[in-house]
Amino acid sequence: MANLLATKPISTIFNEARETGEHCLKRALGPSNLVALGIGAIIGTGIFVITGTATAQHAGPAVILSFIFAAIGCVFAGLCYAEFSSMIPVAGSAYTYGYATLGEIFAWIIGWDLVLEYAFGAASVASGWSGYFISLLGDFGIKLPASIAGTRWDEFIFYNNHWENAARIIPKLKVLGIDPATLPHTHGAFNLLGFLAIVFCTLVLVIGIKESANFNTAIVAIKVAVLIIFVGIGSRYLLEHPGLMAANWHPFIPPNNGFGQFGMSGIFRAAGIIFFAYIGFDAVSTAAQEAKNPGKDMPIGILGSLAICTVLYILVAGVLTALVNYRYLNVPDPLAIGIDSTGVRWGSLLVKLGALMGLTSTIVVMLLGQSRVFFSMSRDGLLPGLFRAVHPRFRTPWISTLTVGLFVAVLAASLPINVLAEMVSIGTLLAFVIVCAGVWIIRRRRPDLERPFRTPLVPLVPILGIITSLAMMLSLTGITWIRLGVWLVVGMVIYFSYGVHHSRVQRQSDPSQKVEAGMRN
Ligand code: ALA
Repeated sequence: MANLLATKPISTIFNEARETGEHCLKRALGPSNLVALGIGAIIGTGIFVITGTATAQHAGPAVILSFIFAAIGCVFAGLCYAEFSSMIPVAGSAYTYGYATLGEIFAWIIGWDLVLEYAFGAASVASGWSGYFISLLGDFGIKLPASIAGTRWDEFIFYNNHWENAARIIPKLKVLGIDPATLPHTHGAFNLLGFLAIVFCTLVLVIGIKESANFNTAIVAIKVAVLIIFVGIGSRYLLEHPGLMAANWHPFIPPNNGFGQFGMSGIFRAAGIIFFAYIGFDAVSTAAQEAKNPGKDMPIGILGSLAICTVLYILVAGVLTALVNYRYLNVPDPLAIGIDSTGVRWGSLLVKLGALMGLTSTIVVMLLGQSRVFFSMSRDGLLPGLFRAVHPRFRTPWISTLTVGLFVAVLAASLPINVLAEMVSIGTLLAFVIVCAGVWIIRRRRPDLERPFRTPLVPLVPILGIITSLAMMLSLTGITWIRLGVWLVVGMVIYFSYGVHHSRVQRQSDPSQKVEAGMRN
């Protein structure tokens, strides 16, 4: 009989981490590298794209409050991640913590759930990348056919001899007094650029061009600079046009018209959606093994990157909603629309180029995270061995990377960004709930373990982390919950038909299987 709650001994985890030598930057990262790593993973499609949808469809200018609520939820979870990553400073993040503390079935659920964060996350970012790229091509007069410019959920309108993204062109048509209903409409079929972005990043990862700390820092600097320039140009324009902010911020909280559409419920739904923008601070925990002093530096890396991004996001959201009426922000490139409205042409180009570079690095980090999680799960026997096959020349887990890459490329090409992003948010929030619960449980079960960083006020902080994460999950749509349920059921089927029979921990803890394994070897 399998023991579904078998835990993996912490000593085994440390030994494996030493054996695999996955990390070549051992103990090289200081607090500022870790903060940069966090910002590198955090800033992406969330602020560059999803802010627009959340504002236009759910919160209006009050999206600023949604950003604050989402950040508060993340701080509680971040404190719990900080305790785990300083206590078990090895790769694998929440999956490894779950295996060490809660037991195998929870580890499986977290690992399977992390696919939503990393694989679906990479697909969402690729979808955002394609929106900015299409917009940039448009600036140079290059227009793609609608069939390859979006998924079948994206609408296009034929105007001026080209198919234009409906959300982007409708405000312009209204200004020109043209009724969009009088023009031909069509839908996309395959988001080719999103697909190609994933294929490119996958090949980079297979060949093993490792992001060096310096490269990461340079990209982070570009992303942060672009956001600061956006705030700078926008604020100057707002100071020169004093009435604009008052006009666009009125009403600050648009009246509610159905659950999740404006009003207070809209602010909370927007918080659940733009929570996506903060995802990534937990990725700092995957570098715990490379930190010089994880006990002290992990909390700085996790909470420092979160704090910097929170401030930046609130400023960007404030300036954007003051520059452009919230109704016009449901577009693939809202920050470019914001800058365009100031008339600073180089600003628009800069935002688009910065977004493209920044989003590429986010895709790489997410795909890397996904293949690392599958690698760890395969090493534990929960997934087939091919997921840990290392390429003889490139020394990368190439089959895992290619399989993940193909799956993610198809996702990016065929599903719209809002569906992808909601799946990422609900999946990551579920991982946060389990990690918060894990910190509390393990404090009671294993008070003896050394904890260089202790989450303050346990159990209050984990409980608040669970409540805020659940509240954000509940604010997401019913269909997203159904998709999560289906995803977890598929995961359970794989676990019970494969994982439970091949688990290394099960074999080690079951004496009869040890004998069998011994006879086989
Ligand atoms: N936080 C990451 C992004 O916004 C996932 O793209």
